[in-house]
Amino acid sequence: MASNTKYQAPRGMRDFYPEDMTRRNAIFDAWKEAAHRFGFSQYDASVVESLDLLKRKAGEEIVNQIYDFEDKSGRKLALRPEMTPTLARMVASKQNSLTFPLKWFAMAQCFRYERMTRGRKREHYQWNLDIIGEESISAEAEVIAASVHALELMGLSSKDFKIHFSSRALLSDLLSKLGIDATHHQAAFLALDKRGKIDDKAITELLTKEGVDSATIEQVFSLLEISSLDDVQKALGETTDALVNIQSFMSLLDTYGLKDAVVFDISVVRGLAYYTGIVFEAFDTAGKFRAIFGGGRYDNLLGDIGGKPATGVGLGFGDVVIDEVLSEKTSDEESENTIDVTSVGFMQEEQRNTAMSVASLLRAKGNNVDLSLKPEKAKNFFGKANKCNYSKAVYIGPDDKEKGVVRIKDLATRREEEMPLS
Ligand code: HAM
Repeated sequence: MASNTKYQAPRGMRDFYPEDMTRRNAIFDAWKEAAHRFGFSQYDASVVESLDLLKRKAGEEIVNQIYDFEDKSGRKLALRPEMTPTLARMVASKQNSLTFPLKWFAMAQCFRYERMTRGRKREHYQWNLDIIGEESISAEAEVIAASVHALELMGLSSKDFKIHFSSRALLSDLLSKLGIDATHHQAAFLALDKRGKIDDKAITELLTKEGVDSATIEQVFSLLEISSLDDVQKALGETTDALVNIQSFMSLLDTYGLKDAVVFDISVVRGLAYYTGIVFEAFDTAGKFRAIFGGGRYDNLLGDIGGKPATGVGLGFGDVVIDEVLSEKTSDEESENTIDVTSVGFMQEEQRNTAMSVASLLRAKGNNVDLSLKPEKAKNFFGKANKCNYSKAVYIGPDDKEKGVVRIKDLATRREEEMPLS
């Protein structure tokens, strides 16, 4: 849309007008409620982080997307592109006094210099839900159950989304079976994660750089066609720890009643280097949008950043894609929901004090009240209250003041309730 002002938000940064805030708050409320329901405690940190903590191995897209800068003293800083390194830093610096397993959540603003597409902005909020210090797959199951609860609070069901999961440890077993040395697995994961985003020729080049010959690369690609754990077992020719682990994970999800919400999908690899075990990504069932959220197990990150070794499992759930999914699902009628505000207005200056007293009384009783700031004609007053989708309205004219009553009008049903002014 053409703007009639000189200034606009920087490209990819978002303005939140009141109607946008209503939608954003609904998402934040669901995140927060689900996190509390599952026993997670909230934490937060500055969006400005040390660049050194955020920079990791080459091959990760995220590292090239960092907004970095120097402060006036020459410190190399950045706007965080994700919360996980900050979480690891915070945990590592108090590791001796914290109680594990630790379950923390944050609603973090993150910045990534991305190529802008649908569902991708340069600034987004991300619900982070992490469990540090739990080795068993019950951590993965609990995090996934909490995310499903958040989606349900937003009005979605397992008909609307599916959580696709796999395991890097399992993929590692399969790569070893093809004769690819473990030292190249992480680079192979990052290359495979790019499938569908860059062409196979470019992925082949990345794998060739890792010393994988062309015949093996063909086999690596064919691994991604595997569609069940039975096929994995056949390809491995044996039962490995990673296979047992993912089988147990599936039966645990079954116990949670989440069987319909999840699907095994070997092509889920994730684009961050630190994942070591089960990885997952949620998508809308119709497959129209990018991932709603993603996460997995990262058992080496704490140790890698200088903390004591501790396991981690978590997810990042952004507000951009889910907003698009919800907007598409919500019919126009539903989006016209009234907001819980009583509008209080008055016809002439003489009724201002009465209107003010009514507003004070209603506010003291816990109602949200929008008091008119000047006298208004009834038509204008009610027109504005309806346009704002307010739930109730009280309009005070000379007669009401004389009679000593006010009429509270329900704007949806148009019913009126009389109340003594006293
Ligand atoms: P991620 O997959 O990079 O994971 O991001 C998680 C989610 O954040 C995505 O699924 C998406 O919803 C949202 N997101 C990411 N980038 C953008 C963007 N440019 N615009 C809009 N939304 C975006 C992580 O960041 C991990 N740190 C998550 C995690 C936490 N793993 C373990 N704990």
